[in-house]
Amino acid sequence: MESFEAPTTIVDDIDVLKPDPQTYRPTELPEREDELSELHMALRPVTMGGTPHNCLIYGPTGQGKTVGVELKTAQLENWAEENDVDLTTVHVRCKGCDSSYHVLRQLVKDIREVRRGPGEDKPMGYQRKTLVEMVLEELEKIGGTIILVLDEVDAIGDDDYVLYELSRAEFEHAKLSLIGITNDLQFRSNLDADVRSTLGEREIHFSPYTAGDLQNILARRTVEALNETYFDGDEEVYQNLDSDVLTNEVIPLTAALSAQDTGDARQAIRLLRYACDLALEEEADQIVEEHVRSAKSRIETQATKQGIVSETIQRKVALIAVANAASEDETPAGTTDLYRRYCRICNQIDLEKNSQNTFREKLNDLAHSNILVKNRHGRGRGKGMTNTYDLSINLDLAIEGLEE
Ligand SMILES: Nc1ncnc2c1ncn2[C@@H]1O[C@H](COP(=O)(O)OP(=O)(O)OP(=O)(O)O)[C@@H](O)[C@H]1O
Ligand SMILES: [Mg+2]
Repeated sequence: MESFEAPTTIVDDIDVLKPDPQTYRPTELPEREDELSELHMALRPVTMGGTPHNCLIYGPTGQGKTVGVELKTAQLENWAEENDVDLTTVHVRCKGCDSSYHVLRQLVKDIREVRRGPGEDKPMGYQRKTLVEMVLEELEKIGGTIILVLDEVDAIGDDDYVLYELSRAEFEHAKLSLIGITNDLQFRSNLDADVRSTLGEREIHFSPYTAGDLQNILARRTVEALNETYFDGDEEVYQNLDSDVLTNEVIPLTAALSAQDTGDARQAIRLLRYACDLALEEEADQIVEEHVRSAKSRIETQATKQGIVSETIQRKVALIAVANAASEDETPAGTTDLYRRYCRICNQIDLEKNSQNTFREKLNDLAHSNILVKNRHGRGRGKGMTNTYDLSINLDLAIEGLEE
């Protein structure tokens, strides 16, 4: 059995390489200076006794939207405390709430907790109109200026009732400003025109990080997370990074691999963390390029397996048919051959058979998810075209995914 007592020459504080905001939250985001300065402007009326503007913040996943809004509102709260201004911010995570009704229940709970401390339950069995009244009543009790952050607000889908009601609410003793955050561009354009113009009074777009941004983000994290790693110069940028436990290629490679995909900082941090874990596992005294490449391929393998696990039963059986052909070295295979194998498998496991056309659709879906590759060939002069399919992933991986 392996011992847990691994030497920790590489790592100082491993939790810094966790992208989870509960574990580690950066204290500055220089790559988001422009976006945060727009947010600063939108919130600034508070400092003049006014109501801050509503904002809609949007941009792809892992771009520092949540952490940026948290930093900015915390800064404003500090200012308010020092200057005796009555300001409250409430952060609500809408993820998992699939309708306005669920968001309203969450809101009642979260706002009550701001007033009375943790331990409130979500109200049960009320109509949504009553829930709106409860929310407004709670906000009125808090009073002063209230900034309500609705993070991952796209969870409500098409049902923007809660936004409609909140954006036109009026109070006697409170001023309310809403900050909606979303990574779903479609959500923004699908919003009801009224809601969009009120909520999107100020719109702030977080565009994807470049490889250079990601290098700096990773460099700052590694200085805190790893031993023998520091900035050799005033500026905390990758070019000034000096490390004995990380070779020069590691950060540029991790950043480049993540920038290629989506420029997602969360993904970049996760990749570096995985590479670090692999180095620790080997008891290596340095993280090297190979650790990053191998981490990337393991993460992809896990994602592919997860993709197979979450496929529907008919698509899984279609995949078994292709895997079966591949195991007999009969791939790429045509639809007719695969359909024959599919029917045999359906008989064996007592599953209702789809028609050949529907089966072909399942194959195409799998090709769309990059689990299969599809090719079109001519059958010969004047005989039309035929499609063939093959696994685009390794056979063992397909079998592992199917077994799970
Ligand atoms: N400029 C940055 N500097 C340091 N860390 C950052 C920066 N931007 C993002 N991060 C880190 O990347 C991770 C993802 O950031 P965040 O949760 O704010 O993304 P998001 O834009 O809200 O994504 P989602 O749309 O998925 O909610 C967090 O761990 C955060 O600390
Ligand atoms: Mg977020």
